Amino acid sequence: MSEPATPGPTARDDGELIAIDGTDPDWWRQAVVYQVYPRSFADSNGDGLGDIAGVTSRVPYLQRLGVDAIWLSPFYPSALADGGYDVADYRNVDPRLGTLDDFDAMVAAAHDAGIKVIVDIVPNHSSNDHAWFREALAAEPGSAARERYVFRDGLGDDGQIPPSTWQSNFGGSAWTRTTDPDGTPGQWYLHLFAPEQPDFNWANPEIREDFHTTLRFWADRGVDGFRVDVAHALAKDLSEPLRDANPKDFDLPLDGSDPLYDRDEVHEIFSGWRRVFDEYDPPRTAVAEAWVPSARVALYARPTELGQAFNFDLLRADFDAGTFSRIIDDNLRLAAESGASSTWVLSNHDVIRHASRYALPAGADEEDWLMSGGTRPAADETRGLRRARAATLLLLALPGSAYLYQGEELGLREVADLREGDLQDPVWVRSAHTRKGRDGCRVPLPWDTSTPAFGFGPAAPHLPQPAWFADLAVSVQDGAPDSTLELYRAALGARHALQQGEDLRWLDAPGPDAIAFARHDGWVCAMNFGTDPVPAPAGSVVVASGPLTAAGVLPGETTVWVRS
Ligand code: GLC
Repeated sequence: MSEPATPGPTARDDGELIAIDGTDPDWWRQAVVYQVYPRSFADSNGDGLGDIAGVTSRVPYLQRLGVDAIWLSPFYPSALADGGYDVADYRNVDPRLGTLDDFDAMVAAAHDAGIKVIVDIVPNHSSNDHAWFREALAAEPGSAARERYVFRDGLGDDGQIPPSTWQSNFGGSAWTRTTDPDGTPGQWYLHLFAPEQPDFNWANPEIREDFHTTLRFWADRGVDGFRVDVAHALAKDLSEPLRDANPKDFDLPLDGSDPLYDRDEVHEIFSGWRRVFDEYDPPRTAVAEAWVPSARVALYARPTELGQAFNFDLLRADFDAGTFSRIIDDNLRLAAESGASSTWVLSNHDVIRHASRYALPAGADEEDWLMSGGTRPAADETRGLRRARAATLLLLALPGSAYLYQGEELGLREVADLREGDLQDPVWVRSAHTRKGRDGCRVPLPWDTSTPAFGFGPAAPHLPQPAWFADLAVSVQDGAPDSTLELYRAALGARHALQQGEDLRWLDAPGPDAIAFARHDGWVCAMNFGTDPVPAPAGSVVVASGPLTAAGVLPGETTVWVRS
């Protein structure tokens, strides 16, 4: 099975011919992947929700930005109990977002622009609206229909106690009791996330086969790769009695002995997926979302499995030279050992935007800050943006793939003061209103200050945009030399030359809280994490994250790329 190759090498704005093209099987190793959260990207039909045609309409913007691929968060039919990560039909488009024809048109437009398309696959759980779960609820305990999910009798005299102590990632028990057709309480089913997200039983071969069908369905439509949601949770030890699990991902044992997460059997599943990817030319790619200790992340990224896994270390790191350089070293080593390329991430749809994280004093509790509506402690927004620009420019200089999240190229901050009535994230309700959740990074993008909803679409957006979005809209930043958008464009344009190799050589640190490294062909990147200036590397400046006030000097909280 193969599909017509997408266009060959593309000439970018700078006239440089890029190596990443439709036929290169290694295109993913050093790709810049831009995450689109479709319901908050661009609304073409005026229902307040972003849609597939909205993505198509912005392909020229993405091409001008210089990304190699887009990753679309789920756009499948969904009741939106968890922002679309509750999928009712894996092989269709949510009618509110368009049709399969719209999807095909979007893929064609992206490919014509030299941009690959990655879709999100959610294999741990479906929506409770999925036909299989409805069938399971209507079926008898022990039936084949129930064997597709995880149903158990409750404990206690009346089965009123959940079958185990397992907790949902969104708060509360991971078990919900069903009601039998005659109205009496029935069995319990497992959901590691919201009750509307019942977990599949991956010991059942029918589930394995069905996901192979789903992968082929999208690969046959020209999709280039897959982002695999909660990849570390599929295999579970469901033998009785059900054992207690580890509540925190970073406390997971390194020997795969937790009953729920990061079990060794999960790797058989992904070896099977690799065989499906390799039916295609070029082979389809994948990246695992696996919140497990770094040493175990590499297992998911083996070339015989998914090929890449997210490295979330920088996303949680303090803004500190020692921490960053250790993380870079560790992850380059792990990627080399597994044959993968490393990945780098500072923001996504699940975390507070990095321009806001870096605006908080060291040690501040981000959840508490969100709960205070972004008022306590006070955020230093100027500093947050300065540091975010510096960290991004560092990330883009590293070998491996960079995953960017929509809106970070505008320097968007977290919308921390959404009103309670506007919150959609199940985290808010499931945590009994003690955690505000992830809506603040999912507010629809500001495109244009002269049109309603800042150009997101003609109707009121599904999450309200703050007035300050006007200062950061694309129309305001387009062509403005010092804008964050122009910084991203310049860095992505220059990066194509860096994508020719995967080398990195550390140089002497130019200061106590600074790092510097060389890449091939005379490229050097230096970042000053501290506030005092340090000596800048020699060479001509290619791009800098902030103003360079004097020759030979790298100001505080600034990154520079030079070439000698
Ligand atoms: C992943 C997604 C997150 C979702 C969860 C459950 O962590 O990134 O948004 O809530 O899986 O599907």
